[in-house]
Amino acid sequence: NLLQQIKDFEDVFTVDRQLLKKIVAHFVKELEKGLSVEGGNIPMNVTWVMGFPDGNEQGTFLALDMGGTNLRVCEITLTDKKGAFDITQSKYRMPEELKTGTAEELWEYIADCLQQFIESHHEEENLTKLPLGFTFSYPATQEYIDHGILQRWTKGFDIDGVEGQDVVPPLEAILQKRGLPIKVAALINDTTGTMIASAYTDPEMKIGCIFGTGVNAAYMENVGSVPKIAHLNLDPELPIAINCEYGAFDNERVQAFEKMTAGLYLGEIFRLALVDLVDNKPGLIFNGQDVSKLRKPYILDASFLAKIEEDPYENLSETYDLFVRELGIHPTEPELELSRRLAELIGTRAARLSACGVAAICTKKNIESCHVGADGSVFTKYPHFKARGAQALREILDWKPEEKDKVVIMAAEDGSGVGAALIAALTLKRVKAGN
Ligand code: BG6
Ligand code: GLC
Repeated sequence: NLLQQIKDFEDVFTVDRQLLKKIVAHFVKELEKGLSVEGGNIPMNVTWVMGFPDGNEQGTFLALDMGGTNLRVCEITLTDKKGAFDITQSKYRMPEELKTGTAEELWEYIADCLQQFIESHHEEENLTKLPLGFTFSYPATQEYIDHGILQRWTKGFDIDGVEGQDVVPPLEAILQKRGLPIKVAALINDTTGTMIASAYTDPEMKIGCIFGTGVNAAYMENVGSVPKIAHLNLDPELPIAINCEYGAFDNERVQAFEKMTAGLYLGEIFRLALVDLVDNKPGLIFNGQDVSKLRKPYILDASFLAKIEEDPYENLSETYDLFVRELGIHPTEPELELSRRLAELIGTRAARLSACGVAAICTKKNIESCHVGADGSVFTKYPHFKARGAQALREILDWKPEEKDKVVIMAAEDGSGVGAALIAALTLKRVKAGN
């Protein structure tokens, strides 16, 4: 019966304290492997962001933020007042069909957005070349900060001919073709941008995280702790930001960690769990109902689960309406109860596993207390995500109930805009200084 089924779901989805700790221990080892010469599942990409801003950065920069959901263009002026900046921005939808289209279509679309932005914000006369921080939030191998070879697409992107290639030359080529006064100064991950932007206003910030369409984090390492760049003979004390790309944690199944925690997949887990019942436990749920919509991959997104979790009514009438509207299914009351519990379990598992990544970085770096800057749709919008994640951190790090939280995950400053500008500014400063 359905009560037994709820229990079965609880067994499958619950990550208790002991399991959290086991995952973190394994996670720490995998982070270390990623930094080693042999490498491992977690890429631990070297970003060439060498240190935090000191607040004295200045200049005008463009930022192009190509995330999973939106494309944003910002112009940021870092002013001579320490830590202050002005920002102008435009948001563009990232059309769904572009994610599986051709590389040419992608670059043309990006150039259209940049061109529109420049044309509406700049007079023809003052076209000095603007340095651009390109936030390209996919795993990239970087030998220099203004280059990046895409390792593989994530977050549902699948554009032929880009994997294994440097993504900067085609962008620069199209900018040049259109006569746009822009020069790519740095290629950045959203997590690195988030970390740098957050640290700009809060010196306690040590880690930048995204809990959104994908999941990932960046933190600052010492060059000496990154064996895979030892051959470059750099000063071992230099700080260097690492983009973990830990959505790939436990990659026997591709992006396994990301698939259990990130927004792109939460609705799909829910759908698959229900389809499994329909197929393998005949007669248990949705008897006599048309389940053809439920069989459509990715028909449900994370907001479907969020709405179920937020349904304020005892009889779950909003959940009922959702099922009718999105799936054409009229669930019974016990089916509604089952769905609510399933949504809670999936959302809770995502938040608790998400805490493991943060705890693993803190453990690896012996960080006892710090702030973690976080961004992304799951962090900002999914109900109870923050509280559930914070609770998991308390369990993993063995804080006493009366103690104040030492590692605190908090909403980041606008990472990909300001962070990209700051990184571009830091890069130009380094170039000027000749290192
Ligand atoms: C945005 C950042 O706020 O959050 C992006 O500007 C980032 O850089 C994004 O990629 C992540 O969230 P989501 O939910 O859009 O994947
Ligand atoms: C995916 C990307 C990663 C990004 C994360 C959050 O995991 O591979 O680069 O940081 O999503 O957007």
